[in-house]
Amino acid sequence: MKKIATVIGARPQFIKAAPLSLEIANSGQLKEVCIHTGQHFDENMSGVFFRELGLPKPAYQLDIHGGPHGQMTGRMMEAIEAILMQDRPDAVLVYGDTNSTLAGGLVAAKLHIPVVHVEAGLRSFNRKMPEEVNRVLVDHISSLLLCPTSAAIENLTNEGITKGVHQVGDLMYDATLRLTSIAARHSRILEALSLEPKGYGVATLHRAENTDSPDALRKAIAFLVGLSEEVPLVLPLHPRTRKALADAGIEGTGSQLKLIDPVGYLDMHMLLSNASVVATDSGGVQKEAYFHRVPCITLRSETEWVETIDNGWNRLWHQEEYRPRREIQEYGTGDAAKRILELLRDAQL
Ligand code: UD1
Ligand code: UDP
Repeated sequence: MKKIATVIGARPQFIKAAPLSLEIANSGQLKEVCIHTGQHFDENMSGVFFRELGLPKPAYQLDIHGGPHGQMTGRMMEAIEAILMQDRPDAVLVYGDTNSTLAGGLVAAKLHIPVVHVEAGLRSFNRKMPEEVNRVLVDHISSLLLCPTSAAIENLTNEGITKGVHQVGDLMYDATLRLTSIAARHSRILEALSLEPKGYGVATLHRAENTDSPDALRKAIAFLVGLSEEVPLVLPLHPRTRKALADAGIEGTGSQLKLIDPVGYLDMHMLLSNASVVATDSGGVQKEAYFHRVPCITLRSETEWVETIDNGWNRLWHQEEYRPRREIQEYGTGDAAKRILELLRDAQL
């Protein structure tokens, strides 16, 4: 039986990994060994997602986080290399575009272990974004490139990558379909925050471009404060942003912009599914807004998820209007995990 080593480390990766890890475990057709780099480590950034999404405990827990990019990635590479040299999996699977993705991909490629990249082909065409560097590099060393959208396939084609490329849909959609009704039964977040369905919006903010300079952070917060005067907003604060706000001495966010700690998956989906608007710089949350058919404002000057804009569910914050609204077919039918399992099982890696 093929053995796959999966490297994860950040919040969105636990969410993407859950449907696939469960599919692999239930199938009995592959063996998976999971390595958690530790990039995200707070209980509400890591542990809660394993519990709520039923993700098995990782075989390896590295506890590597913080520090500048080179240091974080380098330390991860050293630790992952030692594991892969001993464990010798048939392939290494990485998700998305974080430093954990790059570390896992680079180490595997140097050991001549085929790399499987889930969420391949996304591009912002902004090389100042650390994630863009990570995803471009990983795509170019991957043997199997599993793309969520046709735009992603096209981006890879434009870079000359056509071998091992497949469109498989979006694992986050699998997770949303499986857990939204469970969230509705179990989450008490609306009561806890005294929110009425459709009477509030949800915001998230954590991108380096919005948090690393006090000016950029002030601009993003001012935008959200302005929006909160139209509709009260809840902002579950990423630890990076909480620290950046404190460092920049930003306090007055107005009474209609409610800052709370990061919430678990079920509470987040309860919040999103009952919101009247979403404002975010997150990749995942832009799509999830659409999954719940809530209009989104993206707090960035570009997005990788271009189909959300083209089909009228999302707009960049400098755009005034939404385009005409249509359903998006790209994300699949909640069968991304099943399709990926079949490709992993059948691929000649
Ligand atoms: C990372 C990813 C980004 C992804 C995001 C998801 C990179 C380059 N960036 O950004 O693509 O969108 O995760 O949320 O990999 N921290 C805590 N507790 C935690 C997690 C983080 O205190 O549980 C602190 C870290 O110590 C660090 C800061 O938050 O000081 C930023 O964390 P880091 O993982 O470096 O980057 P993210 O902004 O989370
Ligand atoms: N999320 C969550 N609680 C929060 C904020 C986000 O459960 O307080 C979920 C969100 O619903 C989505 C994922 O985290 O599934 C997105 O992760 P994040 O925004 O950290 O990363 P990105 O998608 O931008 O890489």
